[in-house]
Amino acid sequence: MSGELVLGIESSCDETAASVVRDETQILSNVIHSQIELHRAYAGVVPEIASRSHTTRVLPIVETALQEAGATPDQLAAIAVTNRPGMIGCLLIGMTAAKSLSWLYGVPLIGVNHILAHIHAAFMTTPDLPLPCLSLVASGGHTALYHVTAPGIAECVGRTRDDAAGEAFDKGAAILGLSYPGGPAIEEAARGGNATAVAFPRPLLHKDLDFSFSGVKTALLYHLRGSGLEREMPELSDSEVADLAASYQDAIVDCLVTKLRRAVTQYSSKSLAIGGGVACNTRLREAIANDPVLSELQHTFPPLSLCTDNAAMVAGLGTLAFRNGQIDDLSLDAAATSRARA
Ligand code: KG4
Ligand code: ZN
Repeated sequence: MSGELVLGIESSCDETAASVVRDETQILSNVIHSQIELHRAYAGVVPEIASRSHTTRVLPIVETALQEAGATPDQLAAIAVTNRPGMIGCLLIGMTAAKSLSWLYGVPLIGVNHILAHIHAAFMTTPDLPLPCLSLVASGGHTALYHVTAPGIAECVGRTRDDAAGEAFDKGAAILGLSYPGGPAIEEAARGGNATAVAFPRPLLHKDLDFSFSGVKTALLYHLRGSGLEREMPELSDSEVADLAASYQDAIVDCLVTKLRRAVTQYSSKSLAIGGGVACNTRLREAIANDPVLSELQHTFPPLSLCTDNAAMVAGLGTLAFRNGQIDDLSLDAAATSRARA
């Protein structure tokens, strides 16, 4: 098979994923196994359960990704793997697989930053995005704004000081008795609800580019059962749940959109790229489309399969690193937190 083939492996959280990408942007396969069912009972990702599941899934998923792409290991130019940030045990599983295959097949190994890979998903679908671009990555584990000056080169200009936006959706849904993951559940419950029914706080709204979502979740909890530890939750009618979900969703979306608007003005951004699981949210997409400042910019939401965790974005950014000679060796380490390198 012709072209530069890169195998991507992703296991930083609760998705085990592998993908083969040709020439940075052509996705030949994009295999994702989501562990949602394993974590549903806990209303959040349990690191130990996640690591164990990755252990059994990762090699068969790599095999499937190669098969679906019609590629053989000897055709690979490189193997890219998420090595930061993420849950350390989870990262180590994908990395051990990637290192073993790199050694076995004599193929270069490339460690990829998961957040920069989320940003890069937008450049894979829209390679000619005008620069500088402002990128929002909002997921269950991360919420941050990036000033992107070139594909793979991004500076973090704002981040959450506590919960991630997706985490706020997940925890809010748990409080409302909705299912996990909370983002889609709140979005669904909010349909037909009155978003102005409850004025939930918008922390840090008038300050810099950082986010804070933990107060919104607490406000929802206290709104329902008052402050104090031992109070009972009230029974809610469907329409009350709809109003609460719509108001809660709007508070989160309002914070995201307000900071995005401030950031694009501050950094004279020419385009907007949104990634991470929260980018699936329809209300967020509408709010950006209706915003007088943001709607003027070329904006891109990658397809849903590239918004949530996937390995195609890892292979795409890995290809860029490979071309720039940024090759790692078997001493590559995992890191729970982000570092600057692309
Ligand atoms: O990027 P992702 O698949 O995994 C990581 O957390 O890294 O994002 C999952 C997060 C969850 O918190 C989920 O509730 C949220 O993205 N999410 C959404 C929607 N779909 C997924 N949040 C709001 N609205 C949605 N439609
Ligand atoms: Zn992610």
